[in-house]
Amino acid sequence: MREGFAIAIDGPVAAGKGTLASKLAEELHGFYLYTGAMYRCLALECINRGVAIDDEAAVEQVLPFVSIRFEGTKTFLNDVDVTERIQASDAANGASVVSVDPKVREDAVRKQQAIAKKAIRKGEIVVAEGRDTGTRVLPDAKLKIYLTATPEVRAKRRLAQFVNQGRQVDYEHVLAEVQERDERDKGRETDPLPSNPEDLGYVILDDSQMSEEETLGVIKKELQRRELV
Ligand code: DC
Repeated sequence: MREGFAIAIDGPVAAGKGTLASKLAEELHGFYLYTGAMYRCLALECINRGVAIDDEAAVEQVLPFVSIRFEGTKTFLNDVDVTERIQASDAANGASVVSVDPKVREDAVRKQQAIAKKAIRKGEIVVAEGRDTGTRVLPDAKLKIYLTATPEVRAKRRLAQFVNQGRQVDYEHVLAEVQERDERDKGRETDPLPSNPEDLGYVILDDSQMSEEETLGVIKKELQRRELV
């Protein structure tokens, strides 16, 4: 049996982590761990229950009612497929708010580590993506990538996703949302998105001018260079 290990892909909103991590996991026949889904699911459960996202104590009460399962690129919340639903703005912005609470993070990180450990024990390659997967969730990851792009490029990508979904949103609004989430994700006290990734062992990849295939190619080369695949 091959030895399992983890790859961590962190970075700001709409940098392309999801597409990259899921494709990489597929190519390596590994396990895709989408950590942001956990915060999005908690936010969604709060929305469904009419719990105010910014009421920390009330949000914490919802934690025991959130059971999350991953199947490939699909996310199930209490056995309901919420893969599409959690991509909406209310769940995305809600996730950014609930994830500031250290108690929420502790719960999510514990679950993420349990899932990753189980897969690694089975000899799988875990490709985790989020904000703190290389610092907090899987500090022993064999490769840490900090994937980023300019806020303008990231806002344009999000806008394209919204247009694809048939939604009408203007560019300035999306850019403002991207910048607001960046600030919150970097500024929180517990396990923020690193602002000094180069000092923390990350390989920094700015994909503003790169296609998905090119970005994937760079990572695969790096894995080969480190003799991990
Ligand atoms: O990666 P994403 O856009 O699905 O993440 C949604 C929010 O969840 C993000 O704005 C911050 C939070 N998050 C986090 O705090 N830590 C992670 N490892 C992943 C996401």
